Amino acid sequence: MPPAFILGIESSCDETAAAVVRSGEKIVSNVVASQIATHQPYGGVVPELASREHLRAIVPVVRQALADAKKSYDSIDALAVTQGPGLAGALLVGISYAKALAFALDKPLIAVNHLEGHIHAVLLEERQKGNHELRFPVLALVVSGGHTHLYLAEQQGESWSYQNIGHTRDDAAGEAFDKVAKLLGLGYPGGPVIDRLSKHGNPSAVKFPPSQIKHPDRRARLDSVPGARDRGGRAGTPVSATSKARFDFSYSGIKTAVLRYVETQALHESIEVRRQALDGLAKPDLEIILANCDQKTLDLIASFQRAMVDDLVSKTLAAAREYDIATLFVTGGVAANNELRTTFEQESAKEGLPVFFPSRPLSTDNAAMIAAAAYPKFLAKQFAPMEFSAEAGMALK
Ligand code: KG4
Ligand code: ZN
Repeated sequence: MPPAFILGIESSCDETAAAVVRSGEKIVSNVVASQIATHQPYGGVVPELASREHLRAIVPVVRQALADAKKSYDSIDALAVTQGPGLAGALLVGISYAKALAFALDKPLIAVNHLEGHIHAVLLEERQKGNHELRFPVLALVVSGGHTHLYLAEQQGESWSYQNIGHTRDDAAGEAFDKVAKLLGLGYPGGPVIDRLSKHGNPSAVKFPPSQIKHPDRRARLDSVPGARDRGGRAGTPVSATSKARFDFSYSGIKTAVLRYVETQALHESIEVRRQALDGLAKPDLEIILANCDQKTLDLIASFQRAMVDDLVSKTLAAAREYDIATLFVTGGVAANNELRTTFEQESAKEGLPVFFPSRPLSTDNAAMIAAAAYPKFLAKQFAPMEFSAEAGMALK
């Protein structure tokens, strides 16, 4: 099989990205243009601004990815683009551009699910390191600004399929990091700054009650879970989701608990001072942020992160036990979190379960993961029809 060079394009949220990946196993170039500075004053992603920024960035970003790869437009074998999930207007910029380019170059176009991209970020980097062995069943936690999902991932021949065995009922984990950071006057995005500040606080100072899921999930009851293992360890028997425990997440409660703590401890005034001190600084130094945080706030931040990490790790490992998992992937923007990584490593080692993460640049949104996820579809000639469009709420199957 000759090598195949796929140009990936990603524009689902606030990053315009393009990359060239060889045969799903080698990153030849990887360009990411971040819109953080645009959205920072609003404390979150503003959809209209995201579309406008994608329009501005898409041509130079793709050009740069090809130049870095020393490839001409003509010398790539296929294009891949994120179809969903994500912001409809943002997705459409990448899709329209990829369609036009594929048509003009007369190259095949592959539509990729963003969540599958996050899973393939792990596979791509493991192959790049020379690790081609993979033990099944594989469980993947995709944890980002928009998603907290647990998938069983299966491979038949070249093609992959996925079963969702858990998802968030309300806020995604990254969303909780972002909202808590905004509430505490720490800017956007929240995950990286909370990650860095947590080392300076006492994670046992504030006790958060464990997240509770009170209502049955209507969506889950309609699903079935083929490929799940029964108690005797036999795989592949379709069982209804009701006969297997689900592993859902919920993070709106902890956000409210942080707000309540801010109110009872009268932290509003110091938050306002911090907000003004950091206002307009695109990437403030840690020293400046620390100089504007009292110990009580640092303890709150460290306790919040500890509670988030404990919940993500304990639910994922419980799911791994239930489904007799052989390999664990943790991926998506929140997988860049230091405490999450070390806790997963420690806790899964106790169970003899190997855990894999993408490198930090490949944890957050990028197009290399889109080009990598497209490779099995390229081999199977699963090309997108020219009339396909963005699917903001696209599920992964
Ligand atoms: O995967 P991603 O780039 O975009 C989505 O698909 O959502 O994830 C972005 C999310 C944001 O919520 C951001 O705060 C979070 O990932 N994040 C982190 C860290 N780095 C990014 N959360 C916790 N710790 C980090 N170090
Ligand atoms: Zn993402």
